Amino acid sequence: MVNKLIVGDCYEVLPTIEDESIDLILTSPPYAEARSKAYQSIVRIKELGTHFERVLKPGGVLCWNIGDPVEGGLKTTVSYQCVVRWTQDIPEPLYLHDHYALLKDPMPGKSSQRSRPGWEHMYIYKKGKGGITFNNKHMRVRYTNAAKKAVTSRIRQQDGSLVKFTRNQSSDLWGKDPGNYLYYPLGSGHTTTDKYAYEHPALMAEAIAEDFILAFTEQGMVVLDPFNGAGTTTKMAYKHKRQYIGIELEQTFTDIAQRRINETQQIEFEPKAIYTERDMEGDVAEFNEIPYTN
Ligand SMILES: C[S@@+](CC[C@H](N)C(=O)[O-])C[C@H]1O[C@@H](n2cnc3c(N)ncnc32)[C@H](O)[C@@H]1O
Repeated sequence: MVNKLIVGDCYEVLPTIEDESIDLILTSPPYAEARSKAYQSIVRIKELGTHFERVLKPGGVLCWNIGDPVEGGLKTTVSYQCVVRWTQDIPEPLYLHDHYALLKDPMPGKSSQRSRPGWEHMYIYKKGKGGITFNNKHMRVRYTNAAKKAVTSRIRQQDGSLVKFTRNQSSDLWGKDPGNYLYYPLGSGHTTTDKYAYEHPALMAEAIAEDFILAFTEQGMVVLDPFNGAGTTTKMAYKHKRQYIGIELEQTFTDIAQRRINETQQIEFEPKAIYTERDMEGDVAEFNEIPYTN
């Protein structure tokens, strides 16, 4: 069933997926009732968590991009309920591995009762307590000047020898780990350049799908999106030579998803180091200089 877009209800299709056959589930589910005019909007938490746990391979990962929208004047708590129930209340638990804040520019306008949402959750769950595939070189960022000084400086000791200031960290050409808060510009030209895809009212930014697929999988691994919409996950999986399965209730959105795949060129992606060896040579400081002061 790999490399397929399936039109159907994921609660019916998931039981047909083989046990332990999926490396990564990357999805943005229907957020409670927030977009119920555009598409069906129900998350059956326990049922979904049980399916996810069963279909994931040991060491497989679930990236769950969700917001807690306002309903009847109150914030829903679906994302938090998922954390509690999937880690405690399903036959075999998923483990919460990380939690990213995906920052975005809040929509213009004002709300009289609360601030506009400026970020969404990306919860990372894993199956089993062991290690996972993780490589975020492509997400690294430049060091601040002070931090670069700290990781590269060599301090001349009184006896004349040189010792790295940050002893437990070798200078890293790839740059700084960005941390688990990431900013993604959204909207026309940023979310995707596939103009026809905006027929879907809640597209995920391609950069989000791309970053998380590259971080949590290797080429050839299997990526599933059970709420595939207009197919951002499956397009990015295809682009980076992963196998994909997309499940979506609506035929029209699936047609868009298929067109996006058809128009995508597969690439051999090699992340690029931010720094050269020379950049990271660093200065030699005297033993009483402190290279990192903030
Ligand atoms: C937030 S959107 C996903 C958008 C997607 N990430 C993209 O970039 O196009 C959620 C999607 O889930 C679909 N959906 C809702 N309930 C579903 C179900 N039970 N099975 C499959 N798809 C469902 C909706 O039609 C909608 O397209």
